[in-house]
Amino acid sequence: MYDYKEKYGQYLTRVEARIEKFYSDTRCKPEILDESIKYSLKSGGKRFRPVLMLASADLVGANECGVEDYALALELIHTYSLIHDDLPEMDNDDYRRGRPSNHKVFGAGNAVLAGDGLLNTAYYMLFERCEDGKLFADAAKFMCDCAGVKGMIAGQSADLYSAEKGIKDADILDFIVKNKTGKLISAATAVPAILAGGRYFPELRQFGEDLGRLFQLTDDVLDEEGKFEKLGKTAGKDKDENKLTYVTFYGVDQCRVLADIMCSRCLGILEGIDGDTQFLRDIVNFVRYREA
Ligand code: IPE
Ligand code: IPE
Ligand code: MG
Ligand code: MG
Ligand code: MG
Repeated sequence: MYDYKEKYGQYLTRVEARIEKFYSDTRCKPEILDESIKYSLKSGGKRFRPVLMLASADLVGANECGVEDYALALELIHTYSLIHDDLPEMDNDDYRRGRPSNHKVFGAGNAVLAGDGLLNTAYYMLFERCEDGKLFADAAKFMCDCAGVKGMIAGQSADLYSAEKGIKDADILDFIVKNKTGKLISAATAVPAILAGGRYFPELRQFGEDLGRLFQLTDDVLDEEGKFEKLGKTAGKDKDENKLTYVTFYGVDQCRVLADIMCSRCLGILEGIDGDTQFLRDIVNFVRYREA
C-alpha cells in the first residue's frame, strides 16, 4: 500500500546515503574548511529538492542514469545558498536548520568559503557526469543555469536590491521568487526530464517553477506565523529586513488564496503527464500545508 510519508522516507534514505558517500570521499584541509562545510550539510533540512528530483526521475524513467549525483549536486548548491543567504550582509540570520548559522560558528570569512567550496564541488561533480554523453552534459548545464546569474543569483540580487530601495512591485516580487527559489526547484524536476531525453521537459520545468512559487508563499507565511521550534530559523525577519515578500506585499490572507491558486496550477500540470503522479501530487499538498 502506498503511503506518502513512507515513500518520502525511502527517497530520503537514498539521498542521505549519497551524502554519506560524499562525506567519506571528501576530506578537506585545513580542518576548519572540512568542519564548516559538513556542519551545514549535516544539520539536516528537509532535503526537499533531492527527494523531488528522485521522484521526478521515477516518473519519467530516469532512475538508471545516476540521478543521485545530480540530486547531491543540487543539495550542495542549495546548502551553499543558505549559508550565504544568512550572512550579516544578506539576511543577517543567526539560526539555520535549528543550529547557529555557519558564520556564527566559523565567522563570516569561513562561511563564505564553505559556501564557495560547496558550489565548486557541485560543479566538479557535474563536470564528471558530462563525460557520460550529451544528455548528461545538457542536464548539468541546465542546473548551472538555474543556480547562476539568470537563476538563483539573479533572484537573490533582486531580493537584496528591493529591500534596500524599499521597492514594492508585483512583477519584481515574481522575478525574485521565480529566480531565487523557483529555479533550483525547477532544476529538481526538469533535470530528470533532460536525462530521459526531454520527456515532459516543458511540463516539469513549469511544474518546478510553480511549485517554487508555492514553496516561497509558505516560507513567507511561516516567517510571519511560524515558530523557531519548528522552523529551526528565526521567524519575523522579513519585515525587520524590509523584504519584498508575498506576505509584506499581499498580506497573509491573500497569500492563502494565492497558495490555493498555485496548488491548482501545479496539479493541473501533473494532469497532463502520463504515469504515476501520486507522490508528486502529495508533495504539492505537503508544500501547501507544511509547518517547517
Ligand atoms: C529554505 O529552503 C530556503 C527557501 C528557498 C525558502 P528549505 O525550506 O528547503 O530549507 P531546508 O533545506 O529544509 O533547511
Ligand atoms: C532564500 O529565501 C532563497 C535562497 C537561499 C536562494 P529566504 O531568505 O526567504 O529563505 P530563508 O527564509 O532564509 O530560509
Ligand atoms: Mg533571503
Ligand atoms: Mg533568508
Ligand atoms: Mg524566508
